[in-house]
Amino acid sequence: MALPLSLLTVLVVGSGGLSGSVGCVLHQKHILLSGDNVELLRQMQRISTLSCPKDTRDFRFPRTMIEGSQVQGTQAIFVLQEMLQHISDLLLTEHASSAWNTTLLNQVLMGLYQQLEALKPCLVHEMGEQGTALASEGPTGAVRRYFGGIFPYLKEKKYSDCAWEFVRLEIMRSLSSIIALQERLSNMD
Ligand SMILES: *[C@@H]1O[C@H](CO)[C@@H](O)[C@H](O)[C@H]1NC(C)=O
Repeated sequence: MALPLSLLTVLVVGSGGLSGSVGCVLHQKHILLSGDNVELLRQMQRISTLSCPKDTRDFRFPRTMIEGSQVQGTQAIFVLQEMLQHISDLLLTEHASSAWNTTLLNQVLMGLYQQLEALKPCLVHEMGEQGTALASEGPTGAVRRYFGGIFPYLKEKKYSDCAWEFVRLEIMRSLSSIIALQERLSNMD
């Protein structure tokens, strides 16, 4: 396996003997948070997409790019961060709280926030030249383009309940890839 940058070392060190060192350790609890979020989003369903035939849209979720075996280490961290941040931004749009049960919505946002915070130490290590490239290319770029299609869709559909329901399903799709990536990262040690 190629070992890009210092991140892998940091991950290994962080989970090995030198606990307390600056590190980037993805704990099992962050994977569990994604599982909780899947469950919360499932509970948030209010309508069926069957009643929204006109709002169907293929956003082309880039699953194979995200879950491909080449997405390892640093790259996986960037992809994770990008996805978590976009989901958070989507759910923080001012119209989201009128579409969803705010109790559940806030729980999801809290889970996303905790995961993003956990990734911060990883990203700080990767702000060098190579990090910047990894942050904009390949799978990360695909994630950005994918979410870049969702925001205008919501706007175009005037943040309707139907549109939000399709977006909820897209978010659940993203969360399952997030879980796959988190498992990959946590298995490295
Ligand atoms: C929101 O969800 C919570 C938890 O399932 C539930 O207790 C509450 O009644 C819901 N609120 C509304 C307004 O539906």
